[in-house]
Amino acid sequence: MSRSAHPAGPRHADVLPEGHYSAPPADLNTLDAKVWAQTVARDAQGVVTVGGVDVKTLAEEFGTPAYVLDEADFRARARAWRTAFGQDADVFYAGKAFLSRAVVRWLHEEGLNLDVCSGGELATALSAGMPADRIAFHGNNKSTAEITRAVAAGVGRIVLDSFQEIVRVAHIARELGKRQRVQIRITVGVEAHTHEFIATAHEDQKFGIPLAGGQAAEAVRRALQLDGLELIGIHSHIGSQIFDMSGFEVAAHRVVGLLKDIRDEHGVELPEIDLGGGLGIAYTSDDDPREPHEIAKALTEIVGRECEAAKLRTPRISVEPGRAIVGPTAFTLYEVGTIKPLDGLRTYVSVDGGMSDNIRTALYDAEYSVALVSRASDAEPMLARVVGKHCESGDIVVRDAFLPADIAPGDLIAVPATGAYCRSMASNYNHVLRPPVVAVKDGEARVIVRRETEEDLLRLDVG
Ligand code: LLP
Repeated sequence: MSRSAHPAGPRHADVLPEGHYSAPPADLNTLDAKVWAQTVARDAQGVVTVGGVDVKTLAEEFGTPAYVLDEADFRARARAWRTAFGQDADVFYAGKAFLSRAVVRWLHEEGLNLDVCSGGELATALSAGMPADRIAFHGNNKSTAEITRAVAAGVGRIVLDSFQEIVRVAHIARELGKRQRVQIRITVGVEAHTHEFIATAHEDQKFGIPLAGGQAAEAVRRALQLDGLELIGIHSHIGSQIFDMSGFEVAAHRVVGLLKDIRDEHGVELPEIDLGGGLGIAYTSDDDPREPHEIAKALTEIVGRECEAAKLRTPRISVEPGRAIVGPTAFTLYEVGTIKPLDGLRTYVSVDGGMSDNIRTALYDAEYSVALVSRASDAEPMLARVVGKHCESGDIVVRDAFLPADIAPGDLIAVPATGAYCRSMASNYNHVLRPPVVAVKDGEARVIVRRETEEDLLRLDVG
């Protein structure tokens, strides 16, 4: 993912500068179903609708920018994961991708479990009625207060991430007169083919206990000795936005290898393994993600095969998809404010949000698509860079994309596949207010997370 340098030329408008793009699409009005939420379509007037509501109405009613989430799509994707893995496995939605109380209720109704990684996510989950025993608690540095809250609430599992935490959780559980179900997160030494900041199973990083050098085996030894803990399994998460299943294959092989060693050393067959999340989604038409049933089949087969070879009972598998469920279900709706054409380079299209509502482009060089959604257009494709309103030149939402050349201030444009890690990573940079999340379903739109106000900002500023 190397960042392309700003090209100095060429000066001919028909020669395109270097960048992360393919040829312009044949028709800019067509919305590729791969990157847009399931109910998104253009109506007879050329206006884009989602869940039966058009974007002009949404912009009038809720303002821009706004994250617009297709509830039917969210539920369908959650259900697809649940169905694909069946009753002998568990699907924990990774709340870090996007969490709100409405989302927790949908997950509960659709039979999914929930992975949380902070006290705030745990509080959100509990306040929306997710049964505690369906919650997994993650994190490489959970505070004593967070652990105490999780154990007291009765969470289904705490994923232990360090030697210190093995002792801490055991101690807190004993103090509370409980025996806490735990998994140990290990790093299996897999280099996932993704951005460095979101790859997590190689050894040189903060998460997990390395399998290498016998550290994971030592962690298991200690956990099995502590009566405050019930060790139920081993956890591995290899990274994010992964398309290639071979990393999971190696991870499953190594996790099962550890289960075998544990059986041989302690005579115990741990009943569960968790293979984490990380499945990729389509941000542009060039991405080809796998369907949940393909992923479930691949993972189940790998684990089954490895266990058979090791003569182990097949453990219950769990997975933790975040992005793959919520990512494709939402788009960010922006209004175009200013337009700056640079001859022979590209045209900068400024919108009313930016890096405060989508930091992924600046942080990971992430690629996105964009479309004019308030009308159709027959104008020529124009190479555009969609930028925000922040005081920073790296404030880029879509680095390289084609928009119709007649784009004008006041047009609405939308960036699809922003359901994951956009609202959840949003900031108040420049004291810009974080946008609302509007859920749309069956012709009705409702705010599930409201827009931040200046009063919200000032309330925290106690002078
Ligand atoms: N399980 C664990 C233990 C994780 O650490 C994560 C993500 C997931 C599951 C869910 O992964 P997903 O299926 O959503 O890829 N901010 C980055 C992604 C960070 C992911 C952190 N952990 C991004 O915007 O790409």
